[in-house]
Amino acid sequence: MRYTRLGKTNERVPLIGFGTWRLGGGWWSEDRSQDERAIEAIVLAVKKGCWLIDTAEAYGGGHTEELVGSALRRLRSEGDYEVFVATKVAPEHLHYDDVIRSCEASLKRLGLKQVDLYQVHWPNERIDIAETMSAFERLIEEGKTRYIGVSNFSAKQVEEAQSSLRKYELVSDQVSYSFFDRKPEAELLPYCRKNNLTLIAYSPLGRGVVNSSSDKRLTKIDELAAKYNKTRAQILLNWLVSRGGVVAIPKAADPKHIEENAVAADFEMAEEEYTLISRL
Ligand SMILES: NC(=O)c1ccc[n+]([C@@H]2O[C@H](COP(=O)([O-])OP(=O)(O)OC[C@H]3O[C@@H](n4cnc5c(N)ncnc54)[C@H](OP(=O)(O)O)[C@@H]3O)[C@@H](O)[C@H]2O)c1
Repeated sequence: MRYTRLGKTNERVPLIGFGTWRLGGGWWSEDRSQDERAIEAIVLAVKKGCWLIDTAEAYGGGHTEELVGSALRRLRSEGDYEVFVATKVAPEHLHYDDVIRSCEASLKRLGLKQVDLYQVHWPNERIDIAETMSAFERLIEEGKTRYIGVSNFSAKQVEEAQSSLRKYELVSDQVSYSFFDRKPEAELLPYCRKNNLTLIAYSPLGRGVVNSSSDKRLTKIDELAAKYNKTRAQILLNWLVSRGGVVAIPKAADPKHIEENAVAADFEMAEEEYTLISRL
């Protein structure tokens, strides 16, 4: 696994983490039918080196965080594994007291005293970001989170959030970014690189679109996959995280996918091949 620094901090995080959306249910709705499979997936991801685990209070209506908590307990009982836990407060909970309550409830479900990264899941224009950020500062001071991040924020919204923070700096913005969704390249990614913020790429495999057979551009990706003896997903994840400032958090329930993703950053293609993929 290759690593990068989180934001301007000295914190080392893996270039490929692990996403937990749809493990344990959907948006505010839980599904307990695949719990053991989900826990095993999280445990395997950490053991294979994808130890940045991303979750959210809204995933499975909190049940996904409980599954992460179960996986963390299992990992602790099996050895000394490094884990970086990132969770998020939902956009309807961005008033000061709601942020505090949400974070405390997440910690309880995760079985932790502190998360590593607490993120605003989506901006909410009806709630002043300064009020939200002030609650986040209190969470740092109380030791309930180590770092503050946002998600689905534009460069302008990141700037607003940052300017309302008195003592701390944002470390990350988590947005959709993949070969299939290049929007962040126009403004957000250059902004993050300039200001030393980590861009956490969600849906880095286009929510499974990577498996599609109708996208003609994937023929070229398959040629590179054959040349390097890798899979299509590995080529696309490698491209995503190899050009600086980006960490990817693919979700995978299938152990084969987890193992593939865990080594996706561990090879280098020729410079002109990264450019070629960017131009496709
Ligand atoms: N902040 C936000 O608003 C937001 C929004 C969306 C997502 N996220 C975060 O980002 C994470 C990832 O995004 P996502 O779940 O939307 O999509 P994704 O990671 O792009 O795609 C997940 C899909 O790709 C498949 N897959 C994984 N590895 C593969 C491989 N090596 N080869 C082929 N297929 C593979 C998975 O199948 P299997 O499950 O069968 O293995 C699953 O169907 C989420 O879990 C969540 O933590 C955040």
